Amino acid sequence: MTAPARPFEHHGIAFGCDYNPEQWTPDVWDEDIRLMGEAGVDLVAINIFGWSHIEPREGQYDFRALDDILGRLHAAGIRVNLGTGTASPPAWLTRKHPEILPMAEDGTRRYPGGRQAWCPSSPVFRAAALRLVDAVARRYGDHPAVALWHVSNELGCHNALCYCEESATAFRRWLAAKYETLDALNTAWGTAFWSQTYGDWDEILPPRATISTRNPGQSLDFHRFSSDEVLSHYRAEADVLRPLSAAPITTNFMVTAHIENLDYWSWAGETDIIANDHYLDHRLAEPTAELAFAADLSRGLGGGAPWILMEHSTGAVNWQPLNRPKAPGEIIRNSLTHVARGADGVCFFQWRASVQGSEKFHSAMLPHAGTDSAVWREVVELGEIVDRIGELAGTRVEAQAALVFSWESWWATETESRPSQMLGYLDQIHAAYAALHTLGLTVDIVAPGADLSSYELVVVPGLHLIRAEDAAVLTDWIAAGGTAVVTFYTGTVDQDDRVWTGGYTGPLRDALGIRVEEFAPVAAGESLRLSDGSRSAMWSERSRVTTAEVEASFVDGPSAGSPAITRNAWGAGSAWYVATLLEPEAFRGLLGRVAAEAGVRPAAVVRGGDGALEVVRRRGSDASYLFVVNHGDTVAVAEASGFELITGATGAGDIEVPGGAVRIIREEAAT
Ligand code: GLA
Ligand code: GLA
Repeated sequence: MTAPARPFEHHGIAFGCDYNPEQWTPDVWDEDIRLMGEAGVDLVAINIFGWSHIEPREGQYDFRALDDILGRLHAAGIRVNLGTGTASPPAWLTRKHPEILPMAEDGTRRYPGGRQAWCPSSPVFRAAALRLVDAVARRYGDHPAVALWHVSNELGCHNALCYCEESATAFRRWLAAKYETLDALNTAWGTAFWSQTYGDWDEILPPRATISTRNPGQSLDFHRFSSDEVLSHYRAEADVLRPLSAAPITTNFMVTAHIENLDYWSWAGETDIIANDHYLDHRLAEPTAELAFAADLSRGLGGGAPWILMEHSTGAVNWQPLNRPKAPGEIIRNSLTHVARGADGVCFFQWRASVQGSEKFHSAMLPHAGTDSAVWREVVELGEIVDRIGELAGTRVEAQAALVFSWESWWATETESRPSQMLGYLDQIHAAYAALHTLGLTVDIVAPGADLSSYELVVVPGLHLIRAEDAAVLTDWIAAGGTAVVTFYTGTVDQDDRVWTGGYTGPLRDALGIRVEEFAPVAAGESLRLSDGSRSAMWSERSRVTTAEVEASFVDGPSAGSPAITRNAWGAGSAWYVATLLEPEAFRGLLGRVAAEAGVRPAAVVRGGDGALEVVRRRGSDASYLFVVNHGDTVAVAEASGFELITGATGAGDIEVPGGAVRIIREEAAT
């Protein structure tokens, strides 16, 4: 990774929020800015949904309110993360140009009235948005309050996949650039199947709703195209900003449980700093582990560099089936978990809770109840903590292990026809990550093909789509002494979604020393017994080992007698394969054993506690900082020595972390 073109300079850890002053009258602004001071807020995102306010009629700009707000924030010493304002088109634009509205896969248009109602490939939308960006950048490009540009908002959140005519044209253009000839495209998509061979580029459509299942190669390329289209919108806005302002530029990613449409590995180098939005998803079995995963992935996108948590919540969101508030202390624990995992900024959506609109039941820093509330008191406490820990900004997280993650594999796994509809990619990632998290091991999240030379252990959950060259990076690294744990359904297809024949795990087959002949998924609720006494579910495989040793085999189920867990010596390293979804305890046991053998240890030994713990070390040139976040109710004790930044106490040997508390220890003598 090259250094960002424009570093985001900030004193300490940034603390802030989205602020939507257009929802309030100026007397409220005064109170807001006073209370921001009380909470220690120093970075505020404004003008995110500003378009209809600053361009109320086409070409007529009205910047009075925005001038006023920027001036007030600046006078109060608060830095601005300035939205380009293009996130949601105004009504005059969609009325004049209904063709910019996105089209669903069934060919129906989506109306305005929500947000982000625009097609990423629409030249009309693009031109209107860039005119606005130009006007905003000319007016505020040199404004002393502007610390960062916030391009649009959560690009692609709702509109990543558009199936309209304009998108079809852009898709064909993208395909022609990729394949050059129709022959190459026909081969890549396997169009010989079901009489789908194309004789003219104009015959190709986006994968609109069909009467049967669609061509998976076409769907995979449509995903890639769509991610690139949205990225090209980001680039276009950034290109307008760059000559008009020296401030760094970013946009808020959605590395969060359910957003799959953007391949952020291909976006990562484009922003001056990685910024992420994260919301706890209470539909998941382990929301806290997913938070840690998302934070580690955000760090991975920046190649380990510090990043900004651009949004999270002080309590409930408004868009899950059941929207839970946070437990006492959870705002602080979650915020500091992100910091532990490399965030140099902690921001919330949003400052003051809306009283109208779809998000009126979404929590905020300043809740409907006002300042006499538990949420406000915790926000103020968090602000004080963030202030106290500023010295660790810029330090980097240490990890001995890595986990391979791929959006392409996610898309390819969750294609319409697969061996079992229960097979999801993210579930496998979460299961592996949760096991490592419970073991207290810090992992970096890396892309397939990433340099693995600094790791002792690499975990590869269900990497269904694998390119030969990425597989070679992994097997060479194992041969050089690495330890890998690969789980089922890995190495089934190549980059064109073409099956690797000769036994699954394809290009990993030799290194793993096993040939998988058939997949044998099992039904929900069915449990499989393994010869080592453990249990598993969802999946089994019929296979035989070539050179691997069998650590456990299936005792019952459709693959009875086949190996379930194997280990192969490959060069100087070892390659483990797990052909089933182990029960959490068994998965943890296995990964714990393999990690210990590979010499991978938690950042510190922590005893006691009755719930999840985060144990992470950030290291700088002068000092290292050990974070211990105790999500449980009872005290945990960390074997550490040094000055604790939150309490101001110095400890030697054992440092207590009470239930629900966080401790950040500046460790003596960098070890
Ligand atoms: C996203 C958006 C915000 C808001 C929150 C609600 O992060 O960027 O505008 O809608 O979600 O959770
Ligand atoms: C994302 C966004 C939220 C909301 C949800 C809907 O997380 O951040 O604003 O739109 O998706 O699922």
